[in-house]
Amino acid sequence: MDQDDALTQWLAAFRDAVSAGKFVKLALAKPTAAAGDLKAVDVRPILVKEALKLSFTYHYRTRDVVKNYGLEESAALISELLNGKINSGRLYTLAADISLARREAGFKLSRAPASQKRLPELSHNRAKQRFIESAGRTYLNRLGVTDAQGKVHKNSQDKFRQINKYVEVLDGLIKQSDSGKKLRIVDMGAGKGYLTFALYDHLANSLKLDVDVVGVEQREDLVALCNDIARAEDFKNLRFVQGSIAKHDCAGADIVIALHACDTATDDAINKAIRAKASLIVVAPCCHKQIRREMEGGSGTHSLDVLMRHGTYVDRMAEMVTDGLRAELLELQGYKTKLFEFVSDAHTPKNVMIVASRQASDRRPEDVEKLRESIAATKAQFGIVTHHLERLLDRS
Ligand SMILES: C[S@@+](CC[C@H](N)C(=O)[O-])C[C@H]1O[C@@H](n2cnc3c(N)ncnc32)[C@H](O)[C@@H]1O
Repeated sequence: MDQDDALTQWLAAFRDAVSAGKFVKLALAKPTAAAGDLKAVDVRPILVKEALKLSFTYHYRTRDVVKNYGLEESAALISELLNGKINSGRLYTLAADISLARREAGFKLSRAPASQKRLPELSHNRAKQRFIESAGRTYLNRLGVTDAQGKVHKNSQDKFRQINKYVEVLDGLIKQSDSGKKLRIVDMGAGKGYLTFALYDHLANSLKLDVDVVGVEQREDLVALCNDIARAEDFKNLRFVQGSIAKHDCAGADIVIALHACDTATDDAINKAIRAKASLIVVAPCCHKQIRREMEGGSGTHSLDVLMRHGTYVDRMAEMVTDGLRAELLELQGYKTKLFEFVSDAHTPKNVMIVASRQASDRRPEDVEKLRESIAATKAQFGIVTHHLERLLDRS
């Protein structure tokens, strides 16, 4: 059998298995030098709007890309890959496992008894594409989110879900406002950098955007760890700096992010972002101690004693009042705000996100007046003298 025969037969077996409903999966491996970043390709059947498709997962060095095709297009793509970028393939059907390997003299075909006894589930849900796939993301392994094979550790499932949700939210916001210019992003209180790395990976590697991402963190050990990982991953425009949020100069930043920066550190980040005229501010606050203290110590005029007798409800109220006022103060500064739960509270109780987009035109004086009145009324109702963000913004 010459090499073309072997490839033709193998592709015919693939087509037949798909048509007969006996196709389980197909794996392409052993990339050639021409493959560049591409390491392997997996193909499996899925249902899209009730139609059978073949889902290709292209495994690149730092990311996975999923694409779906019809049968003939799939056969042509597989043939093309085997004629340049890939040296071997294995077809799994219910009848046999059929391998194809490139040798000096050409392709060689070999058959083995079927190792797969069942067809895969065809539901498209199973193939739900995540913004950040765990496989091939070595930084997630270095950060302790996945094992060396890219499997998410059991105790990191919530973190991984948050990472994806957060990247999904930012992806939408950034695509809405992409100007094609270099995007400067500052992540305040970056911590161990899970979200910073994932965002950078998505923007720079998957979307190929020109970005510069800086993580600001007070803990030196975390800054050193994250910079080591950024270097090892060759993430050239991602760096971490040690310092306090309140002192970090954000000048030139387009987007300022603060996720779970404790208590008033969120206000410090918002203040810095407003002063830098950042076009987008994204915060997921946590700990609302400043306002809770003011509410407890103040003489509010609210009629909520039935709730405020209970510490748990005071906590919840403090959270809502703190973030509600943050949104109003941002509106006062010319931002349009949205406040929403970005992941289910089953995964984290710190699940509220405030997104503020800077508006091109100034607010009308009567609207400014209304906002001021609403802020003053809320403060009076809950016995709040000053919100920390207000104090920061009042400073010249
Ligand atoms: C709860 S962690 C969140 C980390 C990361 N943003 C995330 O969501 O996974 C908060 C981080 O903010 C840092 N941090 C808190 N206040 C800060 C401040 N004022 N300046 C700099 N870093 C701060 C803490 O050291 C910590 O690493």
